Amino acid sequence: MSDSDDDAPQLSSEALAALQEFYLEQQQREDLEATEGANNCTLGSIEENWQLSQFWYDTETADHLAKEAIRAAGKGGRIACVSAPSIYQKLKEQNNNDFSTCILEYDQRFSVYGAEYIFYDYNDPLNLPASLKEHSFDIVLADPPYLSEECLRKTAETIKYLTKGKVLLCTGSVMEEHAAKFLGVKMCKFIPKHTRNLANEFRCYVNYDSGLDFNSAS
Ligand SMILES: C[S@@+](CC[C@H](N)C(=O)[O-])C[C@H]1O[C@@H](n2cnc3c(N)ncnc32)[C@H](O)[C@@H]1O
Repeated sequence: MSDSDDDAPQLSSEALAALQEFYLEQQQREDLEATEGANNCTLGSIEENWQLSQFWYDTETADHLAKEAIRAAGKGGRIACVSAPSIYQKLKEQNNNDFSTCILEYDQRFSVYGAEYIFYDYNDPLNLPASLKEHSFDIVLADPPYLSEECLRKTAETIKYLTKGKVLLCTGSVMEEHAAKFLGVKMCKFIPKHTRNLANEFRCYVNYDSGLDFNSAS
């Protein structure tokens, strides 16, 4: 399997039509920020880069998954967000000292989060800093960039290394069998939603008794 464009989540024709307008607007925003000397590294201002297969959750989904991770981690728990920056951002927004978290992410724009940012490439799944000890996270939440067996298998190596046990995976429904094989996770009823319509059906998968077996973020 390769991680070619064929493996990437497909955009609907409506979303593709919006691409040109999106980049134009982005350019205008960047020009404005440069003019004003604005800092575009604040929470929530990092735009999707579709070259990196970035598709952000909508606010409701990010909030729901962040709260699920906090509940599953327990008081004083540690939560790792692997290729899932909007969940990390939602966790930070909670202003809650009952848990700690970090973001493992390929896109170095997220290094604005300082020591909690860890550069991560799923192609080298165990190339992690020594500070990330084996089985040291109460829950690992991951959303791999590609819908390929190879990408999920490698990301699963990272997840299994980091977690004490609990896993919350978000990926396409087409990955259900691979997800079960690599991580022993089962599909939940809850359906994650993105800020843009994706043609691929996305789902959450867990290996513990979660609060995600209702298709509602309320
Ligand atoms: C499908 S998106 C998941 C984002 C998630 N829906 C969210 O809202 O936070 C995939 C993520 O994988 C990251 N990514 C891209 N290439 C990667 C690589 N080689 N290794 C690890 N992560 C990568 C992207 O930057 C992106 O954050």
